[in-house]
Amino acid sequence: MINTGIILGSGLHKLSENLENSRLIFEDLRGIHVKRVLEGFLFNKKVILFEGRNHIYENPSNPGIYFAVNKALELGLKHLVVTNAAGGLNSNFRVADLMLISSHINFYSKFLQTKGYRVNYDRKYIYKLSLLALKENIKLHTGTYLASPGPFYETMKEIKLFKKIGADSVGMSTIPELYTSSKNKIKITGISCITNILNPDIKGEISHLEVLEAGKKAFKNLSQIIKIILSQNDN
Ligand code: HPA
Repeated sequence: MINTGIILGSGLHKLSENLENSRLIFEDLRGIHVKRVLEGFLFNKKVILFEGRNHIYENPSNPGIYFAVNKALELGLKHLVVTNAAGGLNSNFRVADLMLISSHINFYSKFLQTKGYRVNYDRKYIYKLSLLALKENIKLHTGTYLASPGPFYETMKEIKLFKKIGADSVGMSTIPELYTSSKNKIKITGISCITNILNPDIKGEISHLEVLEAGKKAFKNLSQIIKIILSQNDN
């Protein structure tokens, strides 16, 4: 029985290269991002990896937005680790830092099909993971993820606003998966990989390449965090 699935955000697919005895169990080549589901072993634990997503900005009514959670349900997974590439709003954050999502600000609730449900952030579990990371000397922040519908990166004024209302990271994914998982009683762990720093006083264009490069840089820390998460699950 496989317990844990990991949804890999932009630039974080490198984790799949470390999957041992890997087997492709699903592939969908349609859309901007190719979607794949792989089965294999990470740190001697059997896991499912999900690559690629449909985003709200492609088509908010596309059921493909929920593809990973639907597959997780089909496979009977109990825990989904949902990772994303995100801009860093907290001034303590640096490129390639990781942040456990302990809350969120949802700027696209009108697109979601999960009215009446909440995301189950497990505060005790988040605290436990933070302590375990600290013990292993792995840099791991905790904070609030802001979900922007995209597809554009933020303007200077939006950055200013988002910082003011208490967001620590901003991205264009994850929230549909967190809601649908919680609705279906799948345990969730959300992780932002900070791929660029958003500063309202510094003008600069963010490139998708920069986002992908930072994801690669965060790989070592991310795999260490995944190791800790898997050690806590009974796979
Ligand atoms: N904003 C929104 N989404 C993102 C960013 C960003 O700065 N970086 C990576 N995904």
